[in-house]
Amino acid sequence: MVKIATVNIEKGGTGKTSQTFNLGEYAAQKRNKKVLLIDQDKSGNLSNRYSEYDVGLIKDENKIDNLYKGKDIKPLHIHENLDLLVAGVDLHEMDNLIQDKHNNRLILFRWVMENYEELAEKYDYILIDTHNDTTLVTQNAWAIADIVIGVSDPSMDGYGALLKLGNDIEKLKKDLVEVISGNSYMSADYYILGNKVKHNTNTSREFRDIIEQEPNYLGYIQDKELINTGNLEKIPIVEYAEDEKTFRAHKEFFTSTFSVYDKILNILDEKGE
Ligand SMILES: Nc1ncnc2c1ncn2[C@@H]1O[C@H](COP(=O)(O)OP(=O)(O)OP(=O)(O)O)[C@@H](O)[C@H]1O
Ligand SMILES: [Mg+2]
Repeated sequence: MVKIATVNIEKGGTGKTSQTFNLGEYAAQKRNKKVLLIDQDKSGNLSNRYSEYDVGLIKDENKIDNLYKGKDIKPLHIHENLDLLVAGVDLHEMDNLIQDKHNNRLILFRWVMENYEELAEKYDYILIDTHNDTTLVTQNAWAIADIVIGVSDPSMDGYGALLKLGNDIEKLKKDLVEVISGNSYMSADYYILGNKVKHNTNTSREFRDIIEQEPNYLGYIQDKELINTGNLEKIPIVEYAEDEKTFRAHKEFFTSTFSVYDKILNILDEKGE
């Protein structure tokens, strides 16, 4: 079975892309799982992490835009355990394009169902990065997910956005009901993840105290320069951890981050079994 996680929140810069990238590479490199990343953010930041694969290689069929245009898509092979569906330049126009289409929030869902056998054979996990919005394209990513992860930095706006996302997901579940059976197409469980949490500030401490109370709380990722550096150098933290000296210098960060990632992957593994 292939398990699907969507990373989203209606707030910019909270770390959605960084967490999708690092979780995906951790699953691929440390857990030896097969991963498909889908970049549904029109800014294309996740795709840019792999821009060295760019030169003349990316075809229209490798772009997720093509699916919403009603065309075929084919993931781009990145490395042994990881493929990518790239965000193309037309992604920002896709909401308008599908607006009047029937079942316009089940386009990605249909693609997964129609190709399920092949996807399940090729991949253990599909991880979807999104834009910080609730558009139709983003709702497509909620609809197919086994879990949706709301990622927030320590702020009241972020906490508000986490609560709103939970409500929006429940609303969509009710909307996407199959008329005869009355069952929803959508089965996503919603989880929340803190990110950029500092050790020594009141804001971070208060934020942690609040989100730790939530029943669907996954954990938090520390505010850490290594994540920033990794984004700039296009290197996932799992690769930094391979270096013994670096690992020892940041042992607590690596251990706590990877234990959050293990928790997420275990939740995915257990979904629907
Ligand atoms: N745990 C972290 N520690 C330190 N810096 C971080 C952390 N997570 C993310 N960042 C930094 O915060 C910035 C925003 O991160 P990122 O691009 O992942 O957020 P995003 O939610 O995907 O943003 P957008 O809404 O623009 O898509 C980047 O500069 C990134 O390097
Ligand atoms: Mg992003």
